[in-house]
Amino acid sequence: MILITGGTGFLGRHQAPALAEARLKVRCLVHRQPLSQPLRALGIEEIPGSILEDSSLRPALRGVEQVVHLVGIILESSTRTFETLHVEGTRRLLEAARAAGVRQFVYVSALGARPRDATRYHRTKWEAEELVRASGLPFTIVRPSVIYGPGDAFISRFARLLRMAPVFPFPRSGRLQPIHVEDVVACLRAALQEPRCLGQAFCLAGPDRLTLEEILRAILDALHIRRLLVPLSPRLLRPLVRLQEAILPSPPLTLDQLRMLQEEHPCDPAPAEAAFGHRFLPFREGLAKCLRSPHDA
Ligand SMILES: NC(=O)c1ccc[n+]([C@@H]2O[C@H](COP(=O)([O-])OP(=O)(O)OC[C@H]3O[C@@H](n4cnc5c(N)ncnc54)[C@H](OP(=O)(O)O)[C@@H]3O)[C@@H](O)[C@H]2O)c1
Repeated sequence: MILITGGTGFLGRHQAPALAEARLKVRCLVHRQPLSQPLRALGIEEIPGSILEDSSLRPALRGVEQVVHLVGIILESSTRTFETLHVEGTRRLLEAARAAGVRQFVYVSALGARPRDATRYHRTKWEAEELVRASGLPFTIVRPSVIYGPGDAFISRFARLLRMAPVFPFPRSGRLQPIHVEDVVACLRAALQEPRCLGQAFCLAGPDRLTLEEILRAILDALHIRRLLVPLSPRLLRPLVRLQEAILPSPPLTLDQLRMLQEEHPCDPAPAEAAFGHRFLPFREGLAKCLRSPHDA
């Protein structure tokens, strides 16, 4: 049995059915929203609870051999901070997994996770990685770059906004290496089946290095529309972002996200492609696939 945490999130909604369709037994720890009917129809079990509640982790881990830990947040709230969700949540899950005799713990971290000079998102992802490495459990860690695909909050969101707005302001960015969700799903599936992936951390990044402006232009091309793109200096944007972070409960952009957009973490996809036996989609191919999906039509 495989336990997925965060199975109702963007990545989980792709990961859980892929494992179930490969005839693996899958259970999801579901938090605020239940599993969708199509996922239930695939025979995926669900246990309600939180990674912060030991009382729900015990039943969720009964009979589980492998854990795929996907819970993570990009936006904090008064009750959900990076420290509680990424660090404390992972610590509790690891303890419960050890007690349950789990034989592999797969953790989805993030490209850019590192201890110092990092945003709090990246720093807490690193701290969670350190807990995984120190847990004594056989583990595999993957660090994806920004993930896109049907139902994402990245390409699909930009496509929606670009369709509506004749003029589109955006922050200048460093080069990103977006990776298609099906590539991440394939790597996680392989990680559960390949003993040679144990004890290792892999960066998962697509083959193309693109600025946000290049990504937006590619979306416009794919949609066959023209819009005026207005690049803004991150330095000038910062006070505005700080202000909307102070007054909005769910700001569209946070200072942490603005900083992450400027960072570059160049990554050669080849080692992960070799380890997982899977070639990553070029961005334009993945983009066409993403925009063709009924989710994002
Ligand atoms: N998406 C990306 O571009 C990207 C890139 C790099 C790394 N990652 C990492 O990949 C992982 C998956 O990302 P995603 O985009 O799928 O995230 P997501 O869509 O925000 O999904 C997060 C999931 O975590 C669940 N969750 C939140 N708090 C929980 C709690 N206390 N107990 C149990 N479950 C809880 C959520 O359920 P509720 O909604 O019901 O609370 C949801 O199912 C995250 O760790 C993220 O940091 C994502």
